[in-house]
Amino acid sequence: MEVVIVPDAKAGGELIAESIAALWRRKPDALLGVATGSTPLPIYDALTAKVAAGAVDVSRARVCQLDEYVGLPVGHPESYRATVIRQVVEPLGLGADSFIGPDGSAADVQAACEAYDRALSSAGGVDLQILGIGTDGHIGFNEPCSSLASRTRIKTLTEQTRVDNARFFDDDIEQVPHHVITQGIGTILEARHLVLLATGEGKAEAVAATVEGPVASVVPASALQLHPHATVVVDEAAASKLKLAHYFRHTYANKPTWQGL
Ligand code: F6R
Repeated sequence: MEVVIVPDAKAGGELIAESIAALWRRKPDALLGVATGSTPLPIYDALTAKVAAGAVDVSRARVCQLDEYVGLPVGHPESYRATVIRQVVEPLGLGADSFIGPDGSAADVQAACEAYDRALSSAGGVDLQILGIGTDGHIGFNEPCSSLASRTRIKTLTEQTRVDNARFFDDDIEQVPHHVITQGIGTILEARHLVLLATGEGKAEAVAATVEGPVASVVPASALQLHPHATVVVDEAAASKLKLAHYFRHTYANKPTWQGL
């Protein structure tokens, strides 16, 4: 696992956006897995600026969702489908057929989960998956004690995650759905490159457990230690509980050939 400490969220967003742009330059139809929430916004802003400046051609680029709420009315502005369209698909000018995600309004949710895993495989798999991390160490919506081998499935959100996400629902926890569809940890680990961005002091403990703790389902993000190409980008605040911060800083600063992440 490579741990890159950046000064702030903007720098993290820029670094990851450049890595995605480089991916689309060498593989124009690469499939980018996108996360929602607040953390990845600087990535999407930086990527949008690159596209606007003509620094990367996204005419064949594809994106896919990591997770989705279950039970929100179709088109609800806080559904992750609507969020990804608003934050990524439209700003980058991607076509409607460039985007896949699970169907959170399906009558048969289990069938929708299995269909999504099949859709990811037939799309050739995810080339680069952006991840955020929950304060409880979740990735996607794989809450603590999720199986490290799990596939896309329905999960129940913990009270902590519903409290954390209430800010997207008028600060009213009653409006936050209880259930979600999420790519499983096993599904996430199939992406060719995992890039987790964590910013702010609130994520410091989860980051330390992910990077320096044992691989354990109680900290789902620790599964990244099992992946052959996982990059964790953290700002100073999110790095504040890493015992090896000094070592990570030194390694990053002395990289002999800097070619992106
Ligand atoms: C959302 C997702 C979640 C978030 C995590 C952090 O698609 O997969 O794992 O990344 O809850 O959310 P923020 O970035 O809002 O702190």
